[in-house]
Amino acid sequence: MPTSEKRIITLGVTGASGAAYAQAVLRLLDTDPRVEHVFFVASDAGLRLLATELGLVAADGKKLPAILTGTSAKKVEYLPNKDIGASIASGSAQVDAMVVVPCSAGALGAISAGIANDLLTRAADVCLKERRPLILCLRETPLNRIHLENMLRVHDAGATVMPAMPAFYYEPQRIADLVEQFAYRVLAQLGLPQKKQYRWKGRAKGEN
Ligand SMILES: Cc1cc2nc3c(=O)[nH]c(=O)nc-3n(C[C@H](O)[C@H](O)[C@H](O)COP(=O)(O)O)c2cc1C
Repeated sequence: MPTSEKRIITLGVTGASGAAYAQAVLRLLDTDPRVEHVFFVASDAGLRLLATELGLVAADGKKLPAILTGTSAKKVEYLPNKDIGASIASGSAQVDAMVVVPCSAGALGAISAGIANDLLTRAADVCLKERRPLILCLRETPLNRIHLENMLRVHDAGATVMPAMPAFYYEPQRIADLVEQFAYRVLAQLGLPQKKQYRWKGRAKGEN
């Protein structure tokens, strides 16, 4: 842990649908006072999805976090995916947890096989070997046998498979509600519970 006891989180973005989840998670990490630093790494396909689904493009990747959050994003550090010499490629770097959101079936496959040929997959591999939390928000449907086996494999290696599946029991009114509530669940998995997370209080059987 850093001396300040604040969290250092790696956010990985891959080329699955759901760029809005990545944006929501980054915004929460950016504003959460318990978070000291965020490492942000996106695959080429992840960058493409940010452009396709959110219309967000940065000629200079370093500007991407600020474009995504709409803030100065001072504590977010963009790391090029090709830079396998970046700090988070080593277990000695201070990182408390990593989330990949959205996580493609391809990234899941690479991580499950221990293939670490770019920064994102290497950082995930490091999390597993260092026994740090690794949250993989897989977005694919339907799932083939390979996906299912890969999920079990990363689960057994210590990751949390958290499919990007919004819930409906809190009566969301807007797509943004679905995205936000899923992002709150992700933050809870990172040990950063959010006050605005909907908590089911229970209802009597048959009650509306
Ligand atoms: C618009 C678009 C949507 C995609 N959605 C998904 C998806 O939801 N899940 C998935 O596993 N792959 C999806 N893909 C395919 C991945 O982007 C592709 O397999 C890519 O090689 C993944 O690379 P990465 O894991 O390095 O990000 C999508 C591709 C495009 C262009």
